[in-house]
Amino acid sequence: MSFTLKAAKGDDFINRKEIINEIVTTISGNSRIGFALYGSRRVGKTSIFKEVQRKLKSNEDIVVIYFSVWEVMPKTITNFVRYFSDTVLEAYRYKIPIKRRVVELVKYPVEVIRDYLRDVKISAKVMDEIEFLLTFDDKKEKNYGDLIRRAFDLPEKLAAETNTKCVILMDEFPSIVDLKNESKIGQDVIGVIRTLYEDQKNTVLCVSGSIRKTMEISVLSSISPFYRQFIVREIKPLSKDNVDELLKKNCRKEIDEKALEKIFEFTKGIPFYVQLLGKRIDAVECNKITCQEIKQVIADTLEEEGAILFNSEFFNLSAREQKIIIAMSTKNLHSPGDIAKETKEETSTISTYLIYLQEKGFITKRRKGIYSIDDLVFEKWIAWKYG
Ligand SMILES: Nc1ncnc2c1ncn2[C@@H]1O[C@H](COP(=O)(O)OP(=O)(O)OP(=O)(O)O)[C@@H](O)[C@H]1O
Ligand SMILES: [Mg+2]
Repeated sequence: MSFTLKAAKGDDFINRKEIINEIVTTISGNSRIGFALYGSRRVGKTSIFKEVQRKLKSNEDIVVIYFSVWEVMPKTITNFVRYFSDTVLEAYRYKIPIKRRVVELVKYPVEVIRDYLRDVKISAKVMDEIEFLLTFDDKKEKNYGDLIRRAFDLPEKLAAETNTKCVILMDEFPSIVDLKNESKIGQDVIGVIRTLYEDQKNTVLCVSGSIRKTMEISVLSSISPFYRQFIVREIKPLSKDNVDELLKKNCRKEIDEKALEKIFEFTKGIPFYVQLLGKRIDAVECNKITCQEIKQVIADTLEEEGAILFNSEFFNLSAREQKIIIAMSTKNLHSPGDIAKETKEETSTISTYLIYLQEKGFITKRRKGIYSIDDLVFEKWIAWKYG
């Protein structure tokens, strides 16, 4: 056993049995209801999806597709459509014998692809659709809603054709609205997907998202397109007992109780940070870990890993947004009024920027007029750097 920064799988998992069983059981059943998972960054959503996929692998009647919107680079609609279609085809490759990974085909001229697909034993209609999705001309196809619709309809068609149920695990689903070609595709696309999904029979969609605000807009709130279409589950951080278990299971050193408390206080149960500290604790040159060593490990982690983890996210913010984050972190401020005073801005300006910061997943509105930074390790890093 050792610490890992990749998605947890199998034996690496602490807790999460209930949610994984619930998803696997529901999906294996007859209903078409899917799940919406939300939870803060690095809490373990992707790990849950990947584990669900692993558990369903042996089920011949279900084809599970994991797809992360964040992996679409550059973030264009056309890239999304191609990459998603490719992932779907790849998942179905053992059901409809296509010899070659489709993405390799895309490089070839249309005639070669057409010729190649001719051997595949599925209906001509579906074949035409695949051909279209792989060969459409980026410059000519401007109806982006239609492209997205056709991409999302591909798994449905393949499922019908192969007599399977297709389960799409769409990670960071709300970010679909950020895809762009000339301009952003926008919120409407979620409605397009919802309308299509309603009429499908063989596809089950499960989504996840780490930005509370955007999950609300697309899935959770009563005015969102997918309201009541999913079983909604919040993925919470690990408990203190879970964190202790994770550390004891993986750590080669003995960690005393005070040190365990310190680790929990710092990580707040976010498994990613527990794994990160764990790796460093393993490298400490002494066998008994006390609070003293943990303090040093935390300081070193902030200094050495903080920049790698947070620099680009933080520097992509506008100057005003950065000022707000710094004021909140270093002065422990939570209300627009206090932040306005500290940054010498108008309260109304601050309120506007607090909305942007919510949409970007940096802060959450706790109650009326009270905001706090989501990631407490990020907050500590800012405080350490700018305090
Ligand atoms: N149940 C768990 N037990 C142990 N470690 C876990 C667990 N869940 C997640 N982790 C670890 O936490 C880290 C983050 O997990 P994961 O990528 O699944 O989270 P996420 O919520 O998808 O994060 P992101 O917001 O970055 O997409 C990984 O290092 C993973 O190994
Ligand atoms: Mg993830």
